[in-house]
Amino acid sequence: MTLAEIAPEQLTEAQATEELARLAAEIAAHDQRYYQEDAPVVSDAEYDALRMRNAAIEARFPQLVRQDSPSLRVGAAPSEKFGKVKHRIPMLSLGNAFSEEDIADFLQRIRRFLGLAEDAEITLLCEPKIDGLSFSARYEKGKLVQGATRGDGETGEDITENLRTVLPGVLKGTPPDVLEVRGEVYMSHADFAALNAQREAAGEALFANPRNAAAGSLRQLDPAITASRKLQYFVYGWGEISSELAETQSGCIAALGAYGLVTNPLVQSCSDLETLLAYYARIYAKRPELPYDIDGLVYKVDRLDWQKRLGFVARAPRWAIAHKFPAEQAKTVLEDILIQVGRTGALTPVAVLRPVTVGGVVVSRATLHNEDEIRRKDIRIGDTVTIQRAGDVIPQVVAVDMALRPDDSQPYTFPETCPACGSHAVREEGEAVRRCTGGLICPAQAVERLKHFVARGAFDIEGLGKKQVELFWQKGLLHNPVDIFRMEARQPEWETPLNAWEGWGKKSAGNLFAAIAARRSMSLERFIYALGIRHVGETTAKMLARHYGSYHTFEAAMRAAEGEAGEAWEGLLAIDGIGPAAAQELVAFYAEPHNRDLLAKLTQEVQVQDAVAPVASSPLSGKSVVFTGTLEHMTRSEAKARAESLGMKVVGSVSAKTDYVVAGAEAGSKLKKAEALGVKVLSESEWVALSQ
Ligand code: IVH
Repeated sequence: MTLAEIAPEQLTEAQATEELARLAAEIAAHDQRYYQEDAPVVSDAEYDALRMRNAAIEARFPQLVRQDSPSLRVGAAPSEKFGKVKHRIPMLSLGNAFSEEDIADFLQRIRRFLGLAEDAEITLLCEPKIDGLSFSARYEKGKLVQGATRGDGETGEDITENLRTVLPGVLKGTPPDVLEVRGEVYMSHADFAALNAQREAAGEALFANPRNAAAGSLRQLDPAITASRKLQYFVYGWGEISSELAETQSGCIAALGAYGLVTNPLVQSCSDLETLLAYYARIYAKRPELPYDIDGLVYKVDRLDWQKRLGFVARAPRWAIAHKFPAEQAKTVLEDILIQVGRTGALTPVAVLRPVTVGGVVVSRATLHNEDEIRRKDIRIGDTVTIQRAGDVIPQVVAVDMALRPDDSQPYTFPETCPACGSHAVREEGEAVRRCTGGLICPAQAVERLKHFVARGAFDIEGLGKKQVELFWQKGLLHNPVDIFRMEARQPEWETPLNAWEGWGKKSAGNLFAAIAARRSMSLERFIYALGIRHVGETTAKMLARHYGSYHTFEAAMRAAEGEAGEAWEGLLAIDGIGPAAAQELVAFYAEPHNRDLLAKLTQEVQVQDAVAPVASSPLSGKSVVFTGTLEHMTRSEAKARAESLGMKVVGSVSAKTDYVVAGAEAGSKLKKAEALGVKVLSESEWVALSQ
């Protein structure tokens, strides 16, 4: 038995010391992955279990509580890549309750603390606990002046510009001069699915769940990226405030709503345990229909004078508690492990499960993430496993029931060859993913590339989706993008014309060929994106299109950069937004004779339109501009659009390379920085005049 398997109450003091050290390190590592990298490797339930074990051991051996104990810490230190914001009032966490008894205890603790009678009524404001990313937004005289993440609770990251794309810049009515509101930024299920679909098409890493997507989107150095992601928020509290809003939590929340901030419509006041539990049951039942993830409920003492008296313990208030939902789990048999091959050759293991219902949904597949994950959990074919849907869209395997493991079971060995083409599959240093090296000869990659070619953002051919691509592929009628444009002409050679296939008719066949014909003219950026080159997503493709202007120039440049040295290569690397990884893939793609051949044929079928060149005559073309402060006569997006139409580059932060800083009312640190660096500063009216 390892130390980790011994129950807290059975540990000796020496073992407890060792175990607390292990837990501190392990929890810190998970915090790092969760808060800094937005890429957790364990489920919330597994993480909670580690924290609970830590707390249980500390409760037994209070003398062993470490200085770096996870129980004394909230979240993780802010990332180095952002400016820091010291919270004037710390952003704390919440204690957890998992059962009815825990809630009854919570109420009793409050009564005892306040010296109330055993049966005294306590009104609680109850609300969903949003599974997103917490923020603090500071409004001064009704204007948004600063935004921050929670960070470690004391110091957060400066995400002001990013939050501007989510929260109102100006409040309605007459809020207090200083009003720091706190809440949660989240991404809806629908927007999460769309974002991941887009990333999949671009061969980019997928977000594990909406929370990670929201966190990854908000913690962007480029606010334009944040703006392009659909983020929403709820405000549920406040930090520093220059005058009281109301005497109760519910009154304050109503006031925040009246200032134009979004508050959760599901909040409800409950004054006894019975109503509280009924509320819990109601929201729990509603959970599958909610457009966003919640991982429990939060109950808050409504009276603010009581909140003040109750105060805080360690990292959480005494006046509030999170009532967590149980993770939706089920046990089933893992019948097989499938290896899926992606467009860029990534091998992804998927668990094939004996179908089982989890939280009302039948699950027959679960992600196994990667090779290391299988090894870490020692997952084997034939094992009985616990699977979980915890807010995550893709079910996960959380544990193996070792007692039910068949005697003849064998550890799983991850294939070192591609299951589709037999080519060697290699794992590069520092990478979690093993990739098929088959490239052009791998049929699995070829089908995935075709699916990408016709996907949204690329050729976007109506009526030719993933399913149809598979079908045409299986029938041997579609091997590469060129075939798509030759299908109609080749139809007479087919055994049966499309309109006689099952499920197809004259109309649908006609529509498909019309949709294909409509794509014989394509913008340069979509064309480049459709090629499905690794690391070349929509944004990179756009940058390339803008830079090179025509397909001819683009292709010539890629060929000239062959060998990855010399002027052409330097030129490619100098393009904004093109990193060495994308550059390498692009050049390698054009160095491949098969690709050149295919492109020669494809450009005969498809006319690639020149990119709309930024107005060359504009003296502002190519210049960079930073907008800061509040603009009176136009919105940020309007100003940005105007600058871009003049060929300017709108950037988020000021550096010596910035050409202009447009400073609106109450511009702060960026204006100071511009002045210090001698960057040209324009007032709003000067900007309007210049950009006319
Ligand atoms: S109140 C002083 N209300 O949960 C404590 N928190 O586990 C203030 N969260 O850091 C927190 N929904 O990020 C509160 N309705 C809600 C919430 C909520 C989500 C998050 C928040 C907090 C974490 C604590």
